Amino acid sequence: MKVLVIGAGAREHALAWKLAQSPRVQNVFVAPGNAGTAHEPGCKNVALTAIADLVAFARTEQIALTVVGPEGPLADGVVDAFRAAGLRIFGPTRAAAQLESSKDFAKSFMARHHIPTARYRTFSDAAAAHAYVESEGAPIVVKADGLAAGKGVVVALTSAEAHAAIDAMLGDQSLAVQYADGTARVVIEEFMAGEEASFIAMVDGRHVLPLATSQDHKRLRDGDLGPNTGGMGAYSPAPVVTPAVHNRVMHDIIRPAVEGMAREGIPFSGFLYAGLMIDGAGNPRVVEFNARLGDPEAEVILFRLTSDLFELLEHAIEGTLDTVEAQWDRRAALTVVLAAPGYPEAPRKGAVIRGLPARSDPAQDEARDPTRVFHAGTAERDGAVAVAGGRVLAVTALGEPLRNAQRGAYDAVERIGFDGMQFRRDIGHRALKVRG
Ligand code: AMP
Ligand code: GLY
Repeated sequence: MKVLVIGAGAREHALAWKLAQSPRVQNVFVAPGNAGTAHEPGCKNVALTAIADLVAFARTEQIALTVVGPEGPLADGVVDAFRAAGLRIFGPTRAAAQLESSKDFAKSFMARHHIPTARYRTFSDAAAAHAYVESEGAPIVVKADGLAAGKGVVVALTSAEAHAAIDAMLGDQSLAVQYADGTARVVIEEFMAGEEASFIAMVDGRHVLPLATSQDHKRLRDGDLGPNTGGMGAYSPAPVVTPAVHNRVMHDIIRPAVEGMAREGIPFSGFLYAGLMIDGAGNPRVVEFNARLGDPEAEVILFRLTSDLFELLEHAIEGTLDTVEAQWDRRAALTVVLAAPGYPEAPRKGAVIRGLPARSDPAQDEARDPTRVFHAGTAERDGAVAVAGGRVLAVTALGEPLRNAQRGAYDAVERIGFDGMQFRRDIGHRALKVRG
């Protein structure tokens, strides 16, 4: 069978690599892919991004199944277009993807279905928003409503920071153009204390198959300092999600979300990602929903998955996720993101990457090679691999305990370099500090 992966990051490289291992998959196409997917055995890049072109390609090539990586095409209705053309695709429709694409939708949905999350209010009027901040005080969180590529959230420790964020989000036309209906809105919400974790499940509209838990590192610099990024590293499993917390998350958050979407007539199928804040007493609350796999969470989750991903996706599309289980490597996985100079504000592209491992050998996969370099923003230039995006590589390792996965990943990082390379040296610190 032929499959298509839509996207160009390390998450999509991991998806393509994993799908290529299925004995039932002959060809994996990645649209548009990167320099890593271009050379992954069994994989081939296709230089397409427009939805109409992807539909035409899937028809002509008789693609058996398509899986979508990033949020952009989901919010643009790629799943609706594929389904209308009678093509099999795993991901939420545009309406269901609002769980991610509209914070306002997500927050009112959670309120309607009693899913625990921070108290919030939505404003389009700046004066009313300022007054609300005055009445609530700090710390408080100000979020732009709409996809804002990570720039849309300010955790304000003082009221002054919150006021400045409101001015920037409601006053600045460059942010306002991102909203579909042309009006800018902000969501102002209660600050939640605790530890974050990513809880991602495969959902077929009705049934839920939870994947292994993970934890991201959103800030650019060691010690969780610096600006928010797309994610600088991750590990799986997340020990903060104990079996008791796992049950609470399924019972209080994931099941009500899936049932609520179905009851509202917009059943969710796809990867449902709950970004959680877990307080000291083990109470989970939702920071945000995403309608896709996380990146870099996908790299560690898929690296630990020993089941055939193609088969899981088939069950998901057929609505039979209740009949399967996912199997996991018992070792932990940890990934370190290598980012371009200037990331996240203004990544500089073009530097040549040195020390990449030799092209992957399919025989190695059978022995469960414990390290892998997934490509994100890379492109080939004059026979070399060069930086072509903000996050460049995700260097991933398995190990038991987690400290060994961390060592494996950082040993592999040592061998790689490019001018201005940025990365964190403390990925995994929370799990290692608390639990050794
Ligand atoms: P989001 O884009 O909503 O995931 O927010 C980005 C980051 O801001 C999250 O990963 C959290 O670290 C932080 N954050 C967002 N909302 C809250 C909140 N209500 N309380 C505390 N931290 C938050
Ligand atoms: N790593 C966070 C995300 O994918 O949204």
